Amino acid sequence: MVTASAPGKVILVGEHAVVYGRPAIAVPVWETVARAQVTLGVAGRGCVIQARDLGRTFALGEAGDDEPLAVVARATLAHLGLAVDPDWQIDLTSTIPMASGMGSGAAVCAALVRALFAQAGETPDPATVSDLVYRAEQIYHGTPSGIDNTVVAYGKPVWFVRGSPPVVFASAQPFTLAIAGSGEPGLTKQTVAAVRARRQENPRRYDAWFDEIAALAQTARTAIEQGAPAQLGPLFDYNHAILQQIGVSTPRLDRLVAAARRAGAAGAKLSGGGGGGNLIALVDDAAAPAVRAALLAAGAPRVIVTTVAAQPFPVA
Ligand code: PMV
Repeated sequence: MVTASAPGKVILVGEHAVVYGRPAIAVPVWETVARAQVTLGVAGRGCVIQARDLGRTFALGEAGDDEPLAVVARATLAHLGLAVDPDWQIDLTSTIPMASGMGSGAAVCAALVRALFAQAGETPDPATVSDLVYRAEQIYHGTPSGIDNTVVAYGKPVWFVRGSPPVVFASAQPFTLAIAGSGEPGLTKQTVAAVRARRQENPRRYDAWFDEIAALAQTARTAIEQGAPAQLGPLFDYNHAILQQIGVSTPRLDRLVAAARRAGAAGAKLSGGGGGGNLIALVDDAAAPAVRAALLAAGAPRVIVTTVAAQPFPVA
């Protein structure tokens, strides 16, 4: 038996703009994880995938090309040069909230890829995991930038520009985020399509917003690398204001963002595709309990507090 895991993630700065070539920063959230376990299955039955949290069990041989887990499993087996349909039982579980912008789909697929490699006696490099998981992201999201598969595959903070190799970078000082669900499902596919349509109507305005977000991402990276994460607070606020203009926030997200700020967060913003999904708030140790309580009182169904650890500089 082999097992493998992958973390959840949040985008710190740069969602939506990243689809149009601007940089974004995402960090792993190790408090939530997806796990895959591979055991030998029944001889002659082929590969059976059981995704408990999705309530789905299916035979790989019978799954279509619209089933992300099957697409990733087949691509991984082909990459490994293994039988098309080995007699393996694959169990997938996850504590990452689904449809919330925390990368649950990508993380489950990353865990699956790693477990299949492990069962074959190999260890994949993060770039290979990321490429294989990207195939599923295309099914989940339509035209994904690739940031989700990258951050869950590397498991470290990443500076991501579409079409360029990701840069893994370190935080010089740890910092803490409260991640709250809005209680509305995230609608990444829809909000990305809606932003595309609105940008076609008004490319200059949208590109100017994306450029402002790119500048925020650059400032955020410098703040993190230079050990001044408190500077992220106002950057989050500014990024949220632009995301409101771009039309991907909701009244509920705005209310929760305001509640977090009132309770002592240094800044807060929606995180991910918007239309619902998550928000993140920068908190220090003193403010974290009050921010958590305020978010829950304002209707957030859950709050995850995560610390982005200081790490030795990069692995790239
Ligand atoms: O909703 P999430 O966390 O999967 O993030 C989507 C991020 C977008 O920039 C809106 C889309 C993308 O593909 O990068």
